[in-house]
Amino acid sequence: MEDSDLLALAKKIREQAYAPYSNFSVGAVLVGENEKRYCGCNVENVSFGLTICAERNALAAAIADGCRQFSKIVIVADCREPVPPCGGCRQVLAEFAPNLAIVSANLHGEV
Ligand code: THU
Repeated sequence: MEDSDLLALAKKIREQAYAPYSNFSVGAVLVGENEKRYCGCNVENVSFGLTICAERNALAAAIADGCRQFSKIVIVADCREPVPPCGGCRQVLAEFAPNLAIVSANLHGEV
């Protein structure tokens, strides 16, 4: 699947985000070595520390499906500059995929 298709998918997933506190919705698509795609959006909580980022939710979906090897993650948010994953997500992603390619984009198509 092309990056442009993955970005379109991440954009769609982003619309499912639950982000009433920050108003910052994020969508992520993690590509497994099995070529399957695992989607995640951020899910916030009134206790901000319990908020789960889009990237980690995508990873959780993959692990639950039995996939533990990944080639790429695609992230979309509504921001001026594309966002990199937060430190916590990088740590969790690095556990499984230390060489993961990260593609980050905003809604205007800047990658
Ligand atoms: N967030 C993500 O889901 N991924 C990122 O890479 C950056 C931050 C979420 C967490 C929180 O719900 C909101 O964006 C604001 O930080």
